[in-house]
Amino acid sequence: MAYSTIKTDTKNSVTLIRLDRPDALNALNSELLGELATALSAADADPKVRAIVITGSEKAFAAGADIKEMSEKTFADMALSDFFAAEANTITAIRKPIIAAVAGYALGGGCELAMMCDFIIAADTAKFGQPEINLGIMAGLGGTQRLTRFVGKSKAMEMHLTGRFMDAAEAERSGLVSRVVPAAKLVEEALDVAGKIAEKSQIAVMAAKEAVNRSYETTMSEGLLFERRSFHALFATDDQSEGMDAFLEKRAPQFRDK
Ligand code: CAA
Repeated sequence: MAYSTIKTDTKNSVTLIRLDRPDALNALNSELLGELATALSAADADPKVRAIVITGSEKAFAAGADIKEMSEKTFADMALSDFFAAEANTITAIRKPIIAAVAGYALGGGCELAMMCDFIIAADTAKFGQPEINLGIMAGLGGTQRLTRFVGKSKAMEMHLTGRFMDAAEAERSGLVSRVVPAAKLVEEALDVAGKIAEKSQIAVMAAKEAVNRSYETTMSEGLLFERRSFHALFATDDQSEGMDAFLEKRAPQFRDK
């Protein structure tokens, strides 16, 4: 499918989605978020795809929701449209793993989009922030909830109230990103990690993703029960037998998603 604000490319079971509005630092407007939701749903439904990477440009992953598009909106416009809640729900309901590969600015909705992914690999040039406060508004695509869970209340509160940016080293120290790599290697590294995930049993990958995400939604005892039930269920798969036989026979497993 042809898109105008993103580019997609699928190779070796991994779909790379590149946000592509260079003139607006990949600001998230309706068209881009709509296309992104469509492309992610297509990748999720495509049996040839086993992992997804979302990236931006060298200068910006995304500099936030599109301020030009938002500037004329009223309370009624925002409330009645529910401002990208449908797209955010689509993105967070994707069952295949999604890695955000972030270089440059990931601000406002850009930081929130990165946090909707399963984990973030950052270039050493990455800058994360929730600067909505400087526009007389606040985060609206999950930033107050997700950033707080990633980095804790004190740092999240400071970022939301002052709008200051966090560099890649601080983001790694604070647990916002899984690791930092040189900017020139960012996409290569993210594709490599996605490729490694693509080699695993897809049933186990999806179950692990679902269980980790469940930890944000439930109590410890319910989460542990959910984990145990999913863990037990994986013993009904051929991939469990294959994975353990391969270990014992000192060979690489051949998972078949069965
Ligand atoms: N929306 C629309 N356009 C944007 C944009 C945004 N969020 N961010 C940057 N742009 C545009 C600029 O308007 C500019 O366009 P023109 O050339 O047509 O003027 C172009 O991208 C390049 O930007 P700058 O000239 O500003 O580049 P810079 O290098 O000097 O600064 C920056 C980079 C610090 C990221 C700066 O662009 C900036 O502060 N952007 C806004 C960041 C922001 O406030 N994000 C939060 C948005 S609100 C939100 O996201 C709400 C939510 O929670 C969902």
